[in-house]
Amino acid sequence: MTEADATYGGLVIAIDGPAGSGKSTAARRVAAALRLRYLDTGAMYRALTWWMIDHGVDIADPGAVLARLDQPRIVVRADPDAPLVMLDGKDVSGPIRSREVSNRVSQVAAIPRVREVLVAMQQRIIADALAAGEGIVAEGRDIGTVVAPSAEVKVYLTASERARAQRRSADLTADPAATVATTEREQARRDRRDAPQMAMADDAVHIDTTLLDLDEVVRRILALAAQQAVPHG
Ligand code: DC
Repeated sequence: MTEADATYGGLVIAIDGPAGSGKSTAARRVAAALRLRYLDTGAMYRALTWWMIDHGVDIADPGAVLARLDQPRIVVRADPDAPLVMLDGKDVSGPIRSREVSNRVSQVAAIPRVREVLVAMQQRIIADALAAGEGIVAEGRDIGTVVAPSAEVKVYLTASERARAQRRSADLTADPAATVATTEREQARRDRRDAPQMAMADDAVHIDTTLLDLDEVVRRILALAAQQAVPHG
C-alpha cells in the first residue's frame, strides 16, 4: 500500500530521540508526505525558555520560572510546510534555535510543573487534530511514553554522538563558535540534563540513523505508518 492508497486520518505517529538524531527533519517529511499535522514539542520548551531569558528570569531558579509560568502565550501552528511558534503574538521560530536557548532549555524542561503544563498543551493539540479527523506526527523526547502513549506508530531515533554533533554544527553555520567539537561538548551536557525525560517506549521501533541518509529514515517510518493506515474504499 502506498501513501496515495490509504488514509491516515486519526493516526498518531510519535518520533522521539536526542538532538541531532534527525527527528525534526524526518518528522516534518513524514507529516508532509502523509498530509498529517506536525507538532514540534521541543519548540514549545524552547519558546518558554526564550521568554524567560527575554524577561530576565533566572532560569537556574525553578521558583522564579514557576512564578511567571502563566504569563507567556505560546501558540504553535501544526503545519509541516510552515511550522510556526508564536510567543505573545510574535513569530519566534528563529530566536528559539539560538545556541543560548539550546544550552539552557533543558534546565527549564527539567521542572516538573513546566512539563505538566506543556504536556497538557501538547495533548490538546493532538486531540484537536483527531477531533478534526486528521492525523499528526509529534516529535520530542517523551511523546511515545508520556504525551501520546497510545500512538499507533512509535519511533525512537538515535545516532552516534559525533554524527549528531556534525549535523547540529552544520545547522548552526551562522554561529562561528559552533564548531563540531564545541557542539559535541554542549550536546553531551544537554544529553545529561535531558536524560530523565528520555526513554524509549517498550513498543517503539528503534532506528539508528548514524549511517542512514534522511530518505532512508523517512522511508522506514512511512513503511511503519502504512501498516497502520486504513485502505481507501
Ligand atoms: O528537540 P529540541 O532540541 O528542540 O528540544 C529542546 C529541548 O527541550 C531539549 O533539550 C529537551 C527538551 N524537550 C523535552 O524535555 N521534552 C520534549 N518532548 C521535547 C523537548
